[in-house]
Amino acid sequence: MRGWGAAGPSLALIKYWGKASAEANTPATGSLAVTLGALESRTEAAFDDRDSVVVNGAEQPLERFSSFLGALKRELGLEGRGLAVTSANNFPTAAGLASSSSGFAALAGAAAALAGAQLPAAKLSALARLGSGSATRSVYGGFTVFDAGAEAADVEQGEDHWPDFRVVLCVVREAAKATSSRRAMEFSRATSPYYGRWVETSPAVLAEARLALAACDWSRLGPLIRQSYLRMFSTMFTAAPPLIYWQPESLALIHELQTLRDEGFTAWETMDAGPQVKVFCPADQVDAVVARLAAKVPGARFLTAAPGPGLRSGIVP
Ligand code: PMV
Repeated sequence: MRGWGAAGPSLALIKYWGKASAEANTPATGSLAVTLGALESRTEAAFDDRDSVVVNGAEQPLERFSSFLGALKRELGLEGRGLAVTSANNFPTAAGLASSSSGFAALAGAAAALAGAQLPAAKLSALARLGSGSATRSVYGGFTVFDAGAEAADVEQGEDHWPDFRVVLCVVREAAKATSSRRAMEFSRATSPYYGRWVETSPAVLAEARLALAACDWSRLGPLIRQSYLRMFSTMFTAAPPLIYWQPESLALIHELQTLRDEGFTAWETMDAGPQVKVFCPADQVDAVVARLAAKVPGARFLTAAPGPGLRSGIVP
């Protein structure tokens, strides 16, 4: 018997960066995110005599997963059993496209299905949090909120709230990142003099962004999206030693997006713990935005997504 779970990546418009509690893996800053459709992690879990995790065909070192698997088993009454986990993403893994969000959410769903547990979404969200902070949000579809210090995320607006909302993912480098976001945010907290101000100023940005999202208002939401990721990166640039995920192609896209806005486009970018640039814009601007960005960075790959569904799970027939 095998349980399966499928989930889309959770991309934050307003960022979580830093832990309220490292042990509980609760966030220091609240986040507002969209769960992406079309992109998906699909995970299966089966009982075995030992634990193993295979992602896109490659066996993974267990260190990254053992505490999560232990917590899942405790929660689901599966102590003492081995779990063979296989997961596949239909998008680049560990390159700053939030594959940990969809992967851990899908695994929580697969393991719960295998255990025969009918868990409410809030419980699955809290379970997924033990794998990665952003996975807490991937359990829900549409637009999600994950408050500072909270144990679970929640739906902020449904999948159909903003029909012409699109995300363009610009993949400038496909290599896996050198520093995990978990380590990078801890490093920012421990060494950046700006980390405290980041945490203090985040609630006002989140509160305003929730209102702008409710009103589907690009002109209010866009500047807040940009403010959030740039403030987050400021805690990395000012860490000691500094942490710079950006590549020349990332910056070329950031500048081109400013040019596009100056010309009247409503295309606003964000970035996560990697070099990729993610752009939010209305559906009818996607083709023109991609054409302009592709001309600036000819080697980049572009993927487009709309808000998608939350976690789905079941037993493999
Ligand atoms: O999911 P984690 O704990 O690896 O952290 C992800 C943090 C960011 O992607 C940079 C921001 C966010 O809110 O998703």
